[in-house]
Amino acid sequence: MPTVRDIRAKAGEAPITMLTAYDAPTAEIVDDADIDMILVGDSMGNAVLGYDSTLPVTVDEVASRTGAVSRGVEDALVVADLPFLSFGFDENSAVENAGRMLKEEGANAVKIESGSHTIELTETLTQLGVPVMAHLGLTPQHVNQSGYARQGTSQEEADEMLDLARKHEEAGAFSLVLEHVPANLAATITEELDIPTIGIGAGPHTDGQVLVINDTVGLGEWSPSFAKQFGDVRGEMERAVAAYRDEVESGEFPAREHSHVEEELDGVY
Ligand code: KIV
Repeated sequence: MPTVRDIRAKAGEAPITMLTAYDAPTAEIVDDADIDMILVGDSMGNAVLGYDSTLPVTVDEVASRTGAVSRGVEDALVVADLPFLSFGFDENSAVENAGRMLKEEGANAVKIESGSHTIELTETLTQLGVPVMAHLGLTPQHVNQSGYARQGTSQEEADEMLDLARKHEEAGAFSLVLEHVPANLAATITEELDIPTIGIGAGPHTDGQVLVINDTVGLGEWSPSFAKQFGDVRGEMERAVAAYRDEVESGEFPAREHSHVEEELDGVY
């Protein structure tokens, strides 16, 4: 069974890999490729649920997708994201929501978009046996305050981020996602912390990298400037769907090998 200790041990030895997944077949492909961690991100809001932000994503949606991903995975560490307003205002409900991901859905850890309001929660969850991945920089659950802009670009913001990173490490976080921050700030934070940093749009000096699976395989119509498309799944799906339509319309599908005839029924029909 994968543990956060394995992830911590890998830091500094070899780059840590993480991708999102939101369903069992995708998780199986990611796991078979020996990706270290699978994040069931609240990015599912945009990536698969048809919302235009992550804010509407519910605990039930993350739970259901986390269960599906866990069932498709053998080796990777599964991290469930805590969605908007499922933590941060009442410790009991935050612990229940996080605990549910491990108790009922097979996650190994939770990720929390972090700030000064999540330090105590990180400590409580860690003590209870729920490993926490912290997340600083661009935190899309704060879109109404910060938009999707790059973060940590002034000295004051950078100092504040480093301070929060240290406080989450002290509180017990096992790793830290840094999203859309300058590469030199990510390098400094990585150097200052013992826990691994996982970057997205944070340059090459973090201990690991994470991307949204849709951006990675080329499924979405749009992807952020810091993502790289390694495939063209959308193009392949478009070709397959159009070929299916054409063959149904022309009568070419289903062919003899896709049908079966029951001789005994010859007299009936
Ligand atoms: O929800 C998500 O997928 C994330 C990653 C982009 C880090 O938070």
